[in-house]
Amino acid sequence: MSEITRVWPTPAAGPATDDDLADWYDEQTAGEAWTRVNFVASLDGAATHQGRSAGLSDDADHRVFDILRRLCDVVVVGAGTVRIEGYGAMRVDAASARWRTEHGRHAQPTFALVSATLNLDPESPVFADAPVRPIVFTGAAAAADRRRALEAVADVVTCGDALVDTRAMITELVARGLGRIHCEGGPHLFGALVADGTVDELCLTLSPQLEGGTAKRITDGSQAAPLGMRLAHVLASADTLLLRYLRE
Ligand SMILES: NC(=O)c1ccc[n+]([C@@H]2O[C@H](COP(=O)([O-])OP(=O)(O)OC[C@H]3O[C@@H](n4cnc5c(N)ncnc54)[C@H](OP(=O)(O)O)[C@@H]3O)[C@@H](O)[C@H]2O)c1
Repeated sequence: MSEITRVWPTPAAGPATDDDLADWYDEQTAGEAWTRVNFVASLDGAATHQGRSAGLSDDADHRVFDILRRLCDVVVVGAGTVRIEGYGAMRVDAASARWRTEHGRHAQPTFALVSATLNLDPESPVFADAPVRPIVFTGAAAAADRRRALEAVADVVTCGDALVDTRAMITELVARGLGRIHCEGGPHLFGALVADGTVDELCLTLSPQLEGGTAKRITDGSQAAPLGMRLAHVLASADTLLLRYLRE
């Protein structure tokens, strides 16, 4: 297991246990809306290496990634990331499932997907193997036949017209008791959250490499919407930094 230490604000005495990590990240409150977003980026701001995030990630990033899933009510992911990263069913491991039930959470988080086109395969493991019925957020303009096909395997919820209005999506999640919202991207969905002003927290792993080239940033979209963030903690694992920023 990769060693992670806290270097700021209070340097920790030794390497973090999973319980330490859970404590340091577990500030979301049941029943209230809190939208956390998690990304890994290269030093020069690339969100992908050869088209995927895997080449930027390391064991420390995976550890925090898993802890963030452990803590949330719902994992929200854009359909592009689901397709490109090859997501399967949303299922945390036994240790996380145990921690969740001991801390009043459902054993497994709900998986919520965001898609305008509903270009999602209802027979894929995302739906077929899901331990909890997934939610698909879409717009009113989505094709009726695709919607019907997905309704057999998921709750399909309309929030907005062409695109999903993330404010309405968050209201719907809170109404379902899923206020601890954890978004794993991707850049278009994060861009929509920033544009809608619905980001409370960014967990950003800074991967010690330079990518160059034309890789995406961690946000995408046409609307600039600056949002001030303040640093909450800095963790380190060898040359990798795990940064946590909260909305000002
Ligand atoms: N570095 C990291 O931590 C990280 C994390 C995640 C992803 N990535 C990378 O990012 C790349 C994918 O980028 P991306 O921007 O395409 O990802 P994305 O935001 O997950 O996918 C875009 C798609 O998601 C749906 N979507 C997003 N926001 C929407 C909204 N407001 N309303 C309706 N639909 C919405 C649409 O799906 P439909 O096309 O189905 O309508 C859209 O085409 C991949 O290469 C992936 O590896 C990196």
